[in-house]
Amino acid sequence: MDYLPIFLDVRNKPCLVVGGGEIALRKITNLRRAGATVRVVAPELAPALAELRAAGEILHAARAFRDADLDEALLVVAATDDRHVNQRIAELARQANVPVNVVDQPEACSFLMPSVIDRSPVVVAVSTGTASPVLARLMRTRLEALIPAAYGRLAGLCADYRARVKERFADQRERRRFWDRVLQGGVAERVFSGHLDEARAAMERELAAGPSASPLGEVYLVGAGPGDADLLTFRALRLMQQADVVVYDRLVAASILDKVRRDARRIYVGKERDNHVMRQGEINRLLVDLARAGHRVLRLKGGDPFIFGRGGEEIDTLAEEGIPFQVIPGITAASGCASYTGIPLTHRDYAQSVTFVTGHLKDNSINLNWAQLAQPHQTIVFYMGLVGLPVIVEQLIAHGVSPQMPVALIQQGTTHNQRVYSGTLSDIVERVRRDPPEPPTLVIVGEVVRLRERFNWFQVPLPAEQGALAPIFPDN
Ligand SMILES: C[S@@+](CC[C@H](N)C(=O)[O-])C[C@H]1O[C@@H](n2cnc3c(N)ncnc32)[C@H](O)[C@@H]1O
Repeated sequence: MDYLPIFLDVRNKPCLVVGGGEIALRKITNLRRAGATVRVVAPELAPALAELRAAGEILHAARAFRDADLDEALLVVAATDDRHVNQRIAELARQANVPVNVVDQPEACSFLMPSVIDRSPVVVAVSTGTASPVLARLMRTRLEALIPAAYGRLAGLCADYRARVKERFADQRERRRFWDRVLQGGVAERVFSGHLDEARAAMERELAAGPSASPLGEVYLVGAGPGDADLLTFRALRLMQQADVVVYDRLVAASILDKVRRDARRIYVGKERDNHVMRQGEINRLLVDLARAGHRVLRLKGGDPFIFGRGGEEIDTLAEEGIPFQVIPGITAASGCASYTGIPLTHRDYAQSVTFVTGHLKDNSINLNWAQLAQPHQTIVFYMGLVGLPVIVEQLIAHGVSPQMPVALIQQGTTHNQRVYSGTLSDIVERVRRDPPEPPTLVIVGEVVRLRERFNWFQVPLPAEQGALAPIFPDN
């Protein structure tokens, strides 16, 4: 390492900043966040700094730097626009053994200010040494996304219990196991979902049970999105990487399953049209049993669990049985397919509303309010509409929709098997009959489909770029 990373206590300690411009402001902001008493020496101040002075939040000497300014400073930042003045400050500071940071002159610095992710009391600092502050900022942005905002609250909870845990678990290894359980299990998840009281109660239970405590089971009902793994949410990814068991169905793409913790047990529960590996009631029961056995259960579903995903039924059973759960939204097929095919679902000039319906065929008919769906200026998205496509077309035309109304049928949207069949109500059935698409497919009906010609941006990658030719969904 070229530099030693340390965290310095500057609360109420005198820190000197020479310079009153925008760059000085950035450094001053960080120093103040850590509670430093900041003294600024500069003939003039930028407006934001003048406001801080007026509010009494910084001290200001309105003049040029003098050597004596360094006296008593715990550290100094040289941020003037005069290189020679900055150089002089750096030399004096080194002679007096005062740490110095010189803006834009890394060779003159004895300390660097890192990019900071603040989840106080958790603080992550990133530095690339003198190589590239921009790269450090980029890394910070990436890490920001991975560290839930509630980590600060979690650290606060740990601090409250630290002494008691030490007393309860004299053995260091047991103590570590205890904290691992707490930080990667039910207690942490209760904190993240805002249930601080429940988290404390769970903590008390764990402490009372001691080393033999059985882990707290819970269920994460997670939306895996329409297929492209890049569309997962950060929260989904975090839970996928800590689950012990994953219960997944047919619409979860293989590339997404790959992101689940390697050693997690995988249970496939199927649900293909007319081929249910497990009935819904059995799945509901399975989730309860796994959580009762102390597992962190990931119930992974295609798209969004609350949109034609029977997520409501699954959590109903969990709620009834008192099993803790959380629901993580996913990008539903309508949003994913529309975006990846350049079809805006609403548009000021073409559609003022969008309706998601199921086109599931039962006894050769689809039970929908066709008169309402035939109204103009709207977009209709049919989930599960492939088998019933002839009925959909027939009913819309019978209720007054023009046979020339544009239709798009999207096969395996957002994946490398995405394919779009576009046409009109009058010809789409014949097109699909000649060249049947692979499920899952989505049907979009409305004038907005015309915009696709202009807005289509997604190019399905060539097989060679996909890394593998394997089908993307598990069983087709
Ligand atoms: C039981 S529903 C589940 C919907 C899911 N919960 C969601 O929010 O997207 C299954 C239907 O969703 C649609 N679907 C899901 N993923 C799709 C995809 N990647 N491309 C096209 N249609 C998809 C198909 O119409 C499929 O028949």
